[in-house]
Amino acid sequence: MSNVVLHIEHLNKTLGKRQILHDISFDTYAGEVFGFLGPNGAGKTTTIKIAAGLLTLDEGEISICGFDMRRQFEQAMAQVGGIVENPEFYKYMTGLENLRLYANMREGVTEERIREVVHLVGLDNRIGEKVGRYSLGMRQRLGVAQAILHRPRLLILDEPTNGLDPAGIKDLRDILKSLAHEEGVAVMVSSHLMSEMELMCDRVGVIVNGRLHSVHTIEEMVAAAAPDHAEYLISVNDPQRGMALLEGMAVESHLTEQGLLNVVLAGEQVEERLAEINRALVTEGLSLYTVSKKENRKLEDVFIELTQAEGGGQIA
Ligand SMILES: Nc1ncnc2c1ncn2[C@@H]1O[C@H](COP(=O)(O)OP(=O)(O)OP(=O)(O)O)[C@@H](O)[C@H]1O
Ligand SMILES: [Mg+2]
Repeated sequence: MSNVVLHIEHLNKTLGKRQILHDISFDTYAGEVFGFLGPNGAGKTTTIKIAAGLLTLDEGEISICGFDMRRQFEQAMAQVGGIVENPEFYKYMTGLENLRLYANMREGVTEERIREVVHLVGLDNRIGEKVGRYSLGMRQRLGVAQAILHRPRLLILDEPTNGLDPAGIKDLRDILKSLAHEEGVAVMVSSHLMSEMELMCDRVGVIVNGRLHSVHTIEEMVAAAAPDHAEYLISVNDPQRGMALLEGMAVESHLTEQGLLNVVLAGEQVEERLAEINRALVTEGLSLYTVSKKENRKLEDVFIELTQAEGGGQIA
């Protein structure tokens, strides 16, 4: 992929006496949803605030659509839309009035564009109501509408699904995907949930303790998490005899606390070998009650293992 929208290189940031970000480098591209994944306190919001121009950078380079954050701040910022923490609105004004007010501060946002974004975020029916009466999910949608009014090339959202119900999360996910994939916006979203990233993002950068651990496509992450073996649990009337038989067949296995035969099969023709084991157990005169496949490790478990290995289990 070419078409770099956000370019971050060797970013360092100290707040108070603590170095919060250590040598962060990554790019996000036009047309992708980039997930910024990390546990609490990892440095997601700090990085996002810097990219959105709300905090200064100590060291390193950031450019947006080629505009350097230090030397061409205004041009760089003109390319960015975002929500960092909770979007602020005037509660006594309607959603539409809030958007119009914001549009006045941006160049070239027409009434037609306002209607277009309202429709895109699914607020047509409620946009004439006062924001004070909006639910959290509706305020999030209004936040996205406001953030994309001026057609930014980079949309940055810090934990945008916080507090949304499952339907709200799906709607937001669809909105962000269509902005990226159909309109070519570079969308960057942070989250602490791998499961959410898996459904929403094309690539994911993992940040732990202020350091960027890795950047991978979702396909790469799924492939890395896929096991190279399959495990089955077999329930029989006489587990001890069953184990003796498996040992005789040189099958990697152990007895679980519940008295199930846990069989590990790697390599080719796993199902055929499982059938062979089942036949041998029955031929031996054992009653075979159930055979079940153990569930694979989920991506979420991989992420948790990864962050804990980096000391991310403890808030640094
Ligand atoms: N103004 C500040 N002064 C000192 N330390 C700060 C300041 N703001 C944030 N930090 C520290 O920087 C670290 C990273 O915080 P940040 O908010 O970027 O994490 P995060 O990844 O967004 O976490 P979360 O998932 O909880 O939102 C934390 O240890 C935090 O306490
Ligand atoms: Mg945060």
